[in-house]
Amino acid sequence: MPLPKSILVVGSGGREHAIVKALIASPSTPRVICAPGNAGIADEIRCFPNVAADSIDGLVELAQREGIDFVVVGPEVPLSLGLVDALAAQDIPAYGPKADGARLEASKIYTKEILLKYNIPTAEAATFDNAPDAIAYLRSHPAPIVIKADGLAAGKGVVVAQTTAEAEAAVHDLLALNAPSIPHSALRTPHSKILIEACLTGEETSILVIVSGRDYYILPTSQDHKRIGDGDTGPNTGGMGTYSPAEVVTPELLARIDREIVRPSVDAIANEGIDFRGTLFIGIMLTPSGPQVLEYNTRFGDPETQVVLPRLDADLLALLWAAAKGNLADAARAVRVRPESAICVVVASKGYPAKFPKNIPITLPVAYPPQTTIIHAGTARDAKGRLVTAGGRVLGVTALAPTLAEAARRAYAVCDEIQCDTKYYRHDIGAKQLNRK
Ligand code: AMP
Ligand code: GLY
Repeated sequence: MPLPKSILVVGSGGREHAIVKALIASPSTPRVICAPGNAGIADEIRCFPNVAADSIDGLVELAQREGIDFVVVGPEVPLSLGLVDALAAQDIPAYGPKADGARLEASKIYTKEILLKYNIPTAEAATFDNAPDAIAYLRSHPAPIVIKADGLAAGKGVVVAQTTAEAEAAVHDLLALNAPSIPHSALRTPHSKILIEACLTGEETSILVIVSGRDYYILPTSQDHKRIGDGDTGPNTGGMGTYSPAEVVTPELLARIDREIVRPSVDAIANEGIDFRGTLFIGIMLTPSGPQVLEYNTRFGDPETQVVLPRLDADLLALLWAAAKGNLADAARAVRVRPESAICVVVASKGYPAKFPKNIPITLPVAYPPQTTIIHAGTARDAKGRLVTAGGRVLGVTALAPTLAEAARRAYAVCDEIQCDTKYYRHDIGAKQLNRK
């Protein structure tokens, strides 16, 4: 099957930069453009900074004007807003689920219903639309306990409460969260709902699965570091660093995750009548009684993608195109996974995930260790063309090496050398795995 020649990548984060790098490396040498992109992506390919990732009409119009024959969608907001549906209506194929599949990320209550209906292991939970009932429930379900807003909340919708007082405060906060922190007005629900869920303990792992109907391919395992501070302290973020493989997921455990979670999830989605063609990202807690689903995301992870893609010895374009076209099995058989370890250390703006300044100049090193790359996330060029910060997560320093320890040394050498007055990064990415040895 001939591969597409003209590809549009939607998004502006580190995930999209990693996807762009993999697509332009395709032996079929496609033309790749990106909307809106960031400063690093714009150094490699043509970007359309004025076409926002949530502008469905703008993206469809761009794809038509540029003669695009395949769209790869990065973030969850355009998926939930029906970008893939709108592209399909114009006969433009895309990688990423339609709005019905994206609901698995956009509504945690819907996901919980699916998990329970199909007996997929997950924490016990109850749904509420008012504070008095929720608080009554907390009396019979003591802390620690987890409170989750139903809808997309840009990482601010989950509170792991250590005390009942904290849980009650979270109930009020999250029930009131029907507006500002939810990134797109069309996705806000007029009456918020929350989920109160048993608190699970264990190590987390991110399992990214390329899905095409009932066929799927499990990408290399990885582990994210969600908290802002070293030693997993402070508030949750979008992710401060990742490494792959996550050795805590032994081959036996991965087989169990496949049997108990991945296969049943893919079948459940198909049985619900959803023709899912995109990435199903399953957040899993490895509890003492076995792996349990924390959440589904319906897109590549950020920064998981930055470590997973460099470990693939494969033509990513052929793989994503096959998934979109419904013949994943052959393409998946051709994929090899590199034995090396990968790490991504996120360099953020000091202050993130709360307030932080922007437009702070960045000077990147001139020389790099082998197989070490800077992935751009929140970067831009100022009026003078200087590289400046433009977001909370600014860069992802990614390294591949024969061992995780060596990959970490390479990445951290670069992190130390980056000059930026507001740079902040965790110093313990990968430490859990390194200390286990
Ligand atoms: P989610 O967006 O649902 O993945 O939640 C974000 C983070 O909150 C997860 O990565 C976990 O660290 C934590 N979390 C979510 N659900 C639970 C749970 N039931 N028990 C413990 N931690 C949780
Ligand atoms: N790193 C977690 C996420 O992409 O949601």
